[in-house]
Amino acid sequence: MCGIVGYIGRRDAYPIIIKGLQRLEYRGYDSAGIALYDGNDIKLSKTKGKVSDLKERLENEITTDGTLGIGHTRWATHGVPNDVNSHPHYSNSGDLVIIHNGIIENYDSLRKELINRGYTFKSDTDTEVLVNLIEDVKKNENVKLGKAVQIALNQVIGAYAIAVFDKNKPNEIVVARLGSPLAIGVGDDEFFIASDASPFIEFTKNAIYLEDEEMAIVRRGKTVKVRKIKNDDLVDPYIQELQLNLEQIEKGGYDHFMLKEIYEQPEAIQDTFRGRLLSNEAMVKLAGVEDNMKKFLAADRIIVVACGTSWHAGLVSEYIFEDLARIPVEVEYASEFRYRNPVITERDIIIAISQSGETADTLAAIKLAKSRGAFVFGVCNVVGSSIAREADAGAYTHAGPEIGVASTKAFTTQITVLTLMALRLARAKGTISSSEFRHHLIELETIPNKVEVALKSDAYVETIADIYKDATNFLYLGRGYNFPVALEGALKLKEISYIHAEGYPAAEMKHGPIALIDEQMPVVVIATKKGHYEKVVSNIQEIKSRKGKIIGIVTEGDVSVKELADHVIEVPETIECLTPLLTTIPLQLLSYHIAVMLDKNVDQPRNLAKSVTVE
Ligand code: G6P
Repeated sequence: MCGIVGYIGRRDAYPIIIKGLQRLEYRGYDSAGIALYDGNDIKLSKTKGKVSDLKERLENEITTDGTLGIGHTRWATHGVPNDVNSHPHYSNSGDLVIIHNGIIENYDSLRKELINRGYTFKSDTDTEVLVNLIEDVKKNENVKLGKAVQIALNQVIGAYAIAVFDKNKPNEIVVARLGSPLAIGVGDDEFFIASDASPFIEFTKNAIYLEDEEMAIVRRGKTVKVRKIKNDDLVDPYIQELQLNLEQIEKGGYDHFMLKEIYEQPEAIQDTFRGRLLSNEAMVKLAGVEDNMKKFLAADRIIVVACGTSWHAGLVSEYIFEDLARIPVEVEYASEFRYRNPVITERDIIIAISQSGETADTLAAIKLAKSRGAFVFGVCNVVGSSIAREADAGAYTHAGPEIGVASTKAFTTQITVLTLMALRLARAKGTISSSEFRHHLIELETIPNKVEVALKSDAYVETIADIYKDATNFLYLGRGYNFPVALEGALKLKEISYIHAEGYPAAEMKHGPIALIDEQMPVVVIATKKGHYEKVVSNIQEIKSRKGKIIGIVTEGDVSVKELADHVIEVPETIECLTPLLTTIPLQLLSYHIAVMLDKNVDQPRNLAKSVTVE
């Protein structure tokens, strides 16, 4: 979490940094700040609140001149969100200024040592400890900034992406990374620093992604020098050409990124299976699976590790892998798995699912699994992300940048990749006949069009949202493949509208949640024709007899649920294992419209962040 941006070059740094911070606000948005070097001194402004609050305040407060600067948008870990705890932080002398994404775990002991040596602290942050540690090393060892950063970081336990500069050497910014992402945009006589490439995409397509335990000295008009933090070895930096373009990271006429991303799903799913699903040849090609087929075929089981929405996609995959490929699957919250001393063997395959590829718990879970000999397969969206790099093999979702904090297209594209994997393995294992296999491929190919049709319910879903927007609780029910969709629907509503919602397997309702049902309780029931339809209809009867309000998600042309439910939203018919790709659409729209009607910040819901790089 937290977004960091920096610039050193020939242009004004301020507009680049402020715009960059706005693009990185998905990473955290409880406070923001900027430090610029104006030719004489550091000008610093920071505030609790959004980047827009900073902009308003800063332009009245400081001059925005200068061709060197750093900026930060925060998701608080150590110290509540307030002006003082916001970044950047000065060192005691006022010479150094730093921004930081991550957590310094041993900050308390370092802080005590520094206090003993006469340092004082204004904030409660671990970051202010780090900048003073660097200053202390610099003075005591009489070394340059780069060396001081290196020595200091070798005393630090934790995770970081940092950028720091010294007002007495205003021609360089020192950056370093361990566990939090850091990209350096390489332009013509200018450099950009950022948590991801979005802040500099209109200026350069060339980027260096620092690896863990690497640092770089970025000097005006020079080349970037990258070194290992531990042993000072020089590293030859790999300059990558970015595929990202500006339109992908802008709202493109939509009111919110979330809505844009909901509407991008037909194309995103198509992009996910482009070149991989070859229905004419009756083939699925996934290089990461193909190259490791022996391992997959010999595996005793698959363990999925993930968090949040990605965990829900993992649950859907449990049904698909078991149903089609007959491989036992366990789906684990990465945060629980990593601390449970789990039984992992060399015959286990770990599938790590992560949109960002940076989630700290998921990353730690795969490191643990690797250390015990398991083979790790990553399903990530962000190319070159930490999880993608740490995995032994993988498949990208190719959904394009997802910026709304509530995940939408990441979920459906993750399910698409996992379905392709299950189909490929089912074919290789012979657990599916060739005609069934072909039928699945043909159906999967129709999904983008069917998602398009499902999106047509938007206006009707909006009217339903208007009726129930003031409810204080919602229940979401589904069975089989659509049980995880019920969980995901409830999560979407909680995340962006702050209405309490629970997802439940429909049949489990009678073991508890049924007690909650009265005429005030909207119950969203996924009742598609394929998938225990009659059983779900019985569950709907049970809700009806207790006067609950029923919103049914049904297959086009449905009759039975229509007779019972207060409202029905239709989705096109498909084979059972693909229904989650369609039933999830109206649930995304429902939560979106309710949040908009309640005047909530849809793209940046309170307390959340898109990329959770702390545990
Ligand atoms: C955060 C986001 C969620 C996301 C989860 C896992 O909590 O707000 O939307 O599902 O992290 O993120 P990942 O990037 O690993 O999929």
